[in-house]
Amino acid sequence: MEAGKKILITGGAGYIGSHTIIEILENTNYDVTSIDNFSNSSSKTFERIKQITGKEVINYNCDLCNKVELEKIFENENNIIGVIHFAAFKLVPESVEHPNKYYHNNINSLLNVLECCLKFDIPDFIFSSSCSVYGNISELPVKETTPFGKAESPYAYTKQVGEEILKDYAKANPQLHVIALRYFNPVGAHISGLIGEIPLNKPSNLVPVITQTAIGKIKQMTVYGNEYKTRDGTCIRDYIHVTDVAIAHIKALSYLTDNKNKSNFSIFNLGTGTGVSVLEAITSFEKIAGIKLNYKIGKMRAGDVEAIYSETTLSKNELDWDTRFSLDKMMETAWTWELNLNKEN
Ligand code: WQD
Repeated sequence: MEAGKKILITGGAGYIGSHTIIEILENTNYDVTSIDNFSNSSSKTFERIKQITGKEVINYNCDLCNKVELEKIFENENNIIGVIHFAAFKLVPESVEHPNKYYHNNINSLLNVLECCLKFDIPDFIFSSSCSVYGNISELPVKETTPFGKAESPYAYTKQVGEEILKDYAKANPQLHVIALRYFNPVGAHISGLIGEIPLNKPSNLVPVITQTAIGKIKQMTVYGNEYKTRDGTCIRDYIHVTDVAIAHIKALSYLTDNKNKSNFSIFNLGTGTGVSVLEAITSFEKIAGIKLNYKIGKMRAGDVEAIYSETTLSKNELDWDTRFSLDKMMETAWTWELNLNKEN
């Protein structure tokens, strides 16, 4: 990889964006520029990235829905060879409550970033998609070729529409090379304990809820339903360590820059291939932290799918990528991060 070339990251202060920046700075010669308006993240993250990597990241505080401002950034920055578009709202229950927020932000920002890529001749585009595009699926593990199911939430629908937009743009603009990475459930934190997910409001994702319950920020957590048709009645997900997800982005970039892609729109699942129930996740946490969690069984949550986990053959073979972190390690790094966050505040 050549020095001086730059990757533009949208949502660089966010959870997966920040972990990806670290992996790019530590494992490639690319420079990184970020665009993040801190709507769901903290500017402190860039100080932490510097602490870990020794490198300064330039960030533009810009709302991606503001096309005029966005174009100015692209005009200002030279040598961008690829864009990784992380920035989006991502909470399933919030999207059920505020669909307008999700449709407006997730779709407009994608269109604006894509238009800039075309206008400024940037060839490579990596999109944060989600396993939620599969909907409620009975055939597991789920493959990339499986057609979209009914979107169970507006969030999921924004990812389906996002992929369709990208497919159409790639078809109409052969110079554009796109990869959609379908994340399963990214969890855990950087091994240094210096960065991780910062839920600015009350968290709704399982692992931050677990760690906040353990530390006492949440008195009692709720397991959303134990009457699903699964081995212990609770929902099954494919939890994957955020650093494994981050590394997949570097592999995806190389896949495009080395011209290994077979078409100019490719899709890869990013999961471990192992389904874990909510109760199994809780048990893993209790074991590594040595803490009994205070939880109750509650009602099923709107927008939840019963069970989903990934078929991983395609991403392993094509991207030459594999996951390295176990469920226990995911929980351990999440817990270290929660303890560190708590020391600070
Ligand atoms: C996991 C499980 C809950 C909180 C996420 C992301 C989304 C997307 C897909 C991509 C569910 C249960 C949770 C709690 C619980 N991915 N739970 N008690 O809904 O699968 O969606 O993955 O990038 O962006 O948000 O993840 O962590 O919210 O829930 O019982 O307090 O934990 O019902 O079964 P979800 P989650």
